[in-house]
Amino acid sequence: MSLRLSQRVQRVSLSANAAAKSGVTALREAGRDILDLTTGEPDFDTPDHIKQAAYAAIAAGATKYTPTPGVRALREAVQRKLKRENRLDYSLPSIVIANGAKQIIFNAFAATLDDGDEVLVPVPYWPSFPDSVRFNGGVPVLIECGLEQGCKLLPAQLESHINSRTRWLILNGPGNPSGAVYSEAELTALADVLRRHPQVLILLDELYEHIRFDDRSPLSLLNVAPDLQPRCLLVGGVSKTYAMTGWRIGFGAGPERLTTAMTVVQSQSTSGASSVGQAAALAAFDGGLAFLPEQVAAYQQRRDLLVSALSLVDGLDVLTPQGGFFVFVRCGGLLGRYREDGRRLNDDGDVVAYLLDEGVAGVAGSAYGLSPWFRLSIATATSSVIEAGRRIADACGRLRLEADL
Ligand SMILES: Cc1ncc(COP(=O)(O)O)c(C=O)c1O
Repeated sequence: MSLRLSQRVQRVSLSANAAAKSGVTALREAGRDILDLTTGEPDFDTPDHIKQAAYAAIAAGATKYTPTPGVRALREAVQRKLKRENRLDYSLPSIVIANGAKQIIFNAFAATLDDGDEVLVPVPYWPSFPDSVRFNGGVPVLIECGLEQGCKLLPAQLESHINSRTRWLILNGPGNPSGAVYSEAELTALADVLRRHPQVLILLDELYEHIRFDDRSPLSLLNVAPDLQPRCLLVGGVSKTYAMTGWRIGFGAGPERLTTAMTVVQSQSTSGASSVGQAAALAAFDGGLAFLPEQVAAYQQRRDLLVSALSLVDGLDVLTPQGGFFVFVRCGGLLGRYREDGRRLNDDGDVVAYLLDEGVAGVAGSAYGLSPWFRLSIATATSSVIEAGRRIADACGRLRLEADL
């Protein structure tokens, strides 16, 4: 019997990241020395005070179902965090908790999109943005934002893509995969366009808000345009800032009509997020960010090392990230060159396959909608980042301009 799958599931695909990661595992099992720069996951451990809070919660019996929109104490902690760190006021019903920021985003689209509704997605994008839109019946409208514009959406591009079917704009900063951070002036200019189109909701993915380089402090569209708050869903979480990817806790803050509908969606899928995860997230938000400067300094040092190594490589153009976990590299200059085994590099998939053969795993830009590029993670040991830069420079230097006859 051939099992029939839904149209809905056939519109989306397994994450490219997961595929790249399993490729690394297979090669390592075969004994190959591979530097894994595929994953957007901190190499730091979850801070100890957060783990202790989780142990204490288990001991105190916090092991039962939780309210669908999240435990009240955690929602209050998010409310305090938004006030303290982001200078934003939210009522309690406008804050919801889910199993990671990913589920918040999914719930938001499930709650608002009808078939054919459009969502503006700047390219390069985090792959779950367009796939979550597609799964929920919407149409992602991809807007290419290349190297020349720092991989950031321009106001004129935004204006020209809005029409009567547009339901959402997604803004992600610091961006995955680009590391782009919008300045105050850039956010102000985008806000001016958005004010002219009051039907458009805005999804602000600020998961990497605290991972910013060169002394930048967190800045949201909502700080420069507070009047847009009734149309924004602010998405955050604990995965990146607190090295808590496996605890699966994220939050959304937005208009109550939206958060209420998102709670309905969640009530019919996963129900409330894990009791222990929520206790840990509460300790994270209330425990301060004293541990963070050291980690951000480490990410910044790795960024500097990788950017300076790759900038010297003929054929590569590096976009210097201003935050986040990734260095995004344009590799158009390598296309048409030949490997020593005679194979020609035709696209970014070929470049990534070549680098993997040379011992460095990254992800092709096609996974993020922009080719020919590739993404490297700096959320990995500094020694691996240094060695990766060396291997990539060496491998690119051995490429030939012509095939051997
Ligand atoms: C831009 C962006 N948003 C959301 C997420 C999902 O985060 P969470 O672990 O909270 O589901 C990720 C994870 O990689 C991400 O890069």
